[in-house]
Amino acid sequence: MALTLYKILFFLYFLGTMGLSFSLQAKVPPKNKEPMNYDTCTSKGCHSNLKQKKYTHNPIEANGCNLCHNPIMGKHKFEFTSPPQEMCIVCHDSLDKSKFKKVGNSMVIEEESQSFSTHRISLKDFPPHIKRKILSWGLTLYDQDLTCLTCHNPHSSDKPRLIRPLKNQEDFEKPLCVTCHEEKTKTQNHPLKEDTCFQCHNFHQGMIQTPLLRIAKNRRDPICLQCHKEKTSIFNTKHDYFLWTDERKKEVSGFFDYPTPTTIRCELCHTIHHTKAQGSFLLTSKVSQEPHKVIALCTSCHHNEKAKSIPQIKYIFKHVPILFSSIPDPKTRKEITLKFFSTTGKRMRGTEEPFEFSCATCHNPHAWGKDYMRSFFLTNSTETMKFCSSCHGKEAKTLYSTFHDHKPKEPHE
Ligand code: HEC
Ligand code: HEC
Ligand code: HEC
Ligand code: HEC
Ligand code: HEC
Ligand code: HEC
Ligand code: HEC
Ligand code: HEC
Ligand code: HEC
Ligand code: HEC
Repeated sequence: MALTLYKILFFLYFLGTMGLSFSLQAKVPPKNKEPMNYDTCTSKGCHSNLKQKKYTHNPIEANGCNLCHNPIMGKHKFEFTSPPQEMCIVCHDSLDKSKFKKVGNSMVIEEESQSFSTHRISLKDFPPHIKRKILSWGLTLYDQDLTCLTCHNPHSSDKPRLIRPLKNQEDFEKPLCVTCHEEKTKTQNHPLKEDTCFQCHNFHQGMIQTPLLRIAKNRRDPICLQCHKEKTSIFNTKHDYFLWTDERKKEVSGFFDYPTPTTIRCELCHTIHHTKAQGSFLLTSKVSQEPHKVIALCTSCHHNEKAKSIPQIKYIFKHVPILFSSIPDPKTRKEITLKFFSTTGKRMRGTEEPFEFSCATCHNPHAWGKDYMRSFFLTNSTETMKFCSSCHGKEAKTLYSTFHDHKPKEPHE
C-alpha cells in the first residue's frame, strides 16, 4: 500500500517536472471548482513552503497564484497564463528584452520618465563552456538561453531579489558574473572587492550612459558619491570633466588607457578595473614612464607638450625623501602631517618608509572649495609651509611658491 502511494507521488512529481504543476503533498489535492479560493493554496500544509523563504515575491504574498497559473476545472491541474519565458514581463514590462536598444556597446531601456542602461539577457555567441557552467549550478536554460526564470525563483528565495541559489556556491554574483567577466575580478582592487559587484553595479537598471553603475539615493549621482560624499567637491572645478569641451576630452583621451568613454567624473583619473597602480587605482598613463603613479597621472596632462590647452608646469622637481611624516605645530603642538606617498605612489600612512612628495601633497585633486586656496587646488598651504619650515626655516615660503621653477638635479656620477 505504502509503495503504491509512493509510486503515485513519484508519478505526480514526474509530471510536475514536465512543466505541469501538481501538489506534492501526501494529502489528496482538491479538485478545482468555481469560485477558486487561492488563500487556501499555501495554507494547511499545502504549498506553504512557497512562503517560508526569507524573501517572497509580491504576488505570492498576496496569494495571487492565478496571476501566473490558470486553473483547469474539475482537476487539480493548472496551466501557465502565458509561456514561462514571457510571464514576468507582463508586470515587469520595462525588462521586455525585445525592447532593449543597443547604443554603442551598451544596452539601453528607454522609458518615459527615465532611461536606464541594462544588461543583455542572452547567451547568443557564447562559447559552450559558459552554458555548461550555468547548467552545472543547477540553473535551467529555456531554448538553450537565459530567461528570467534561469536566475530568479518565481515564488520566493532565501537570497535577495528572488535569486536562485547556485549548487555548491555560497554566492550568486561572484561565480555567475565572473564566469563571463573573469578579467574584471582579477584587476579589481577597490576595498570592496571582497564584497559584491552589486555594490557598484545594478544588473537590469543602471545609470544611463554608464556601465550599469547604480544610481545614488539622490537619484542623480553615480553610486560612488553615496559612499564618497565629500568628493562632490570636484563638481564645477577645473577637473570637472562634465564642463570640458569635446575638443579637450578628445585631447586627453590619448594620454590614458581609458576603459570606456568616460561616463562619470571620477573616471577622469580613477578606474576600478583597469589599473596597475598600487592604491587609489589611478589610470595607467600612456605617455609617462614615471613609476610614481600620482606624478605619472598629473604630469600626463600637466607636463606634456601634446596637452596644448592645459596649464603646464616647467619642471618635475623631485624633493629628497623625508624621514618623518609629522611635526608638532610650533604654537599649538598639534601634529601637522602632509600627504605622503611611497616611491610608486601608494599613499603612506605609517612611518616605516621614507616619504615622497607628490603632486597630491600640495594639490588636492578633488577640491576647489571654501577650505582651500581659491586657485590651484592647493591643500592647506599654511600648514604645509609650517612643515617645510621645520627644515627650511624662513626660506620655506619662497621654496614652496616657486616649487615648479626648481630644476631637478642631475644624478651624481
Ligand atoms: C509570478 C508568477 C507565479 C505566481 C504568482 C505563482 N507561480 Fe507557481 N510557478 C510559476 C512558474 C514559472 C513555475 C514553474 C517552475 C519554476 O520554474 O520554478 C511555477 C511552478 C509552481 C509549482 C510547481 C512546483 C514548484 O514549486 O516549482 C507549484 C506547486 C506552484 N507553482 C504553486 C503556486 C502557488 C500555490 C501559487 C500562489 C501562492 C503560485 N504558484 C504563484 C510562476 C508563478
Ligand atoms: C502579477 C504581476 C507580476 C508578475 C507576473 C511578476 N512579478 Fe515580479 N514583482 C511584482 C511586484 C508587484 C513586485 C514588487 C514591486 C517591485 O519591486 O517592483 C515584484 C518584484 C519582483 C522582484 C524583486 C523582488 C525584491 O526582493 O526586490 C523580482 C526579482 C521579480 N519580481 C521577478 C519576477 C519574475 C522572475 C517573474 C516571472 C516569473 C515575475 N517577477 C513576475 C509583480 C509581478
Ligand atoms: C543572469 C541572471 C539574471 C537574469 C537572466 C534575470 N535577472 Fe533579474 N536580477 C538578476 C540579479 C543578479 C539581480 C539583482 C541585482 C541587484 O542586486 O542589484 C536582479 C534583479 C531583478 C529585479 C529587482 C529590481 C532590480 O532591478 O534590481 C527584478 C524585478 C528582476 N531582476 C526581474 C527580472 C526579469 C523580469 C527578468 C527577465 C526579463 C530577469 N530579472 C532576468 C539576475 C538576473
Ligand atoms: C553569459 C555571460 C554574461 C554573464 C553571466 C554576465 N555578463 Fe555582464 N556582460 C556580458 C557581455 C557579453 C557584455 C557586453 C555588452 C553586450 O554585449 O551587451 C556584458 C556587459 C556588462 C557590463 C557593462 C555594460 C555596459 O553598458 O557597458 C557590466 C557592468 C556587466 N556586464 C556586469 C555583469 C554582472 C554584475 C554580472 C553578474 C550578475 C554579469 N555581468 C553577468 C556577458 C555576461
Ligand atoms: C567599486 C565599484 C565597483 C565594483 C565593486 C565593481 N565594479 Fe565593475 N565597474 C566599475 C566602474 C567605475 C566601471 C567603469 C570602468 C572602470 O572604471 O574601470 C566598471 C566597469 C565594469 C564593466 C564594463 C566595462 C569595462 O570596463 O570593461 C564590467 C563588465 C564590470 N565592471 C563588471 C564587474 C563585475 C563582474 C564586478 C564584480 C566582480 C564588478 N564590476 C565590481 C565599478 C565597480
Ligand atoms: C558601498 C560604498 C562604496 C561605494 C559604492 C564606492 N566606494 Fe570607493 N571606497 C569605499 C571604502 C569603504 C573605501 C576605503 C576607504 C579608506 O580606506 O579610507 C573606498 C576607497 C576608494 C578609493 C581609494 C582607494 C585607496 O587605495 O586609497 C577610491 C579611489 C574609490 N574608493 C573610488 C570609488 C569609485 C570611483 C566608486 C564608484 C565607481 C566607488 N569608490 C564606490 C566605499 C565605497
Ligand atoms: C583630477 C584627478 C582626479 C579626479 C577627477 C578624481 N580623483 Fe580621486 N584621487 C585622485 C588622486 C591623484 C588620488 C590619490 C591621492 C590622494 O590620496 O589624494 C585620489 C584619491 C582618491 C580617494 C582616496 C583618498 C581620499 O581622499 O579619500 C578616493 C576615495 C577618491 N579619490 C575618490 C574619488 C571620487 C569618488 C571621484 C569622483 C567624484 C574622484 N576621486 C575623482 C585624483 C582624482
Ligand atoms: C586628464 C587631464 C588632467 C589630469 C589627469 C589632471 N589635470 Fe589638472 N587640470 C586639467 C585641466 C584641463 C585643467 C583646467 C585648465 C583650464 O581650464 O584652465 C586643470 C587644472 C589644474 C590646476 C589649476 C591650474 C590653474 O591655472 O588654475 C591645477 C593646480 C591642477 N590641474 C593640478 C593637477 C594635479 C595635481 C593633478 C594630479 C592629481 C591633475 N591636475 C590631474 C587636466 C588634468
Ligand atoms: C611643494 C608643493 C607643490 C608640489 C609638490 C606640487 N605643486 Fe604644483 N603648485 C604649487 C604651488 C604653490 C603652485 C602655485 C604656483 C604659483 O603661484 O605660480 C602650483 C601650481 C601648479 C599648477 C598651475 C600652473 C599654472 O601656471 O597655471 C599646476 C598645473 C601644478 N601646480 C601641477 C603640479 C603637478 C603636476 C605636480 C606634481 C608633479 C605638482 N604641481 C606638485 C605647489 C606644489
Ligand atoms: C626633512 C627636512 C625637509 C623638509 C621637511 C622639507 N625639505 Fe625641502 N629640502 C630638504 C633638503 C635636505 C634639501 C636639499 C637637497 C639637495 O641639496 O639636494 C631640500 C631641497 C628643497 C628644494 C630645492 C632647493 C634648491 O635649491 O634647489 C625645494 C624647492 C624644497 N626643498 C622645497 C620644500 C618644500 C616646499 C617643503 C615643504 C612641503 C620642504 N622642502 C620640506 C629638506 C627638507
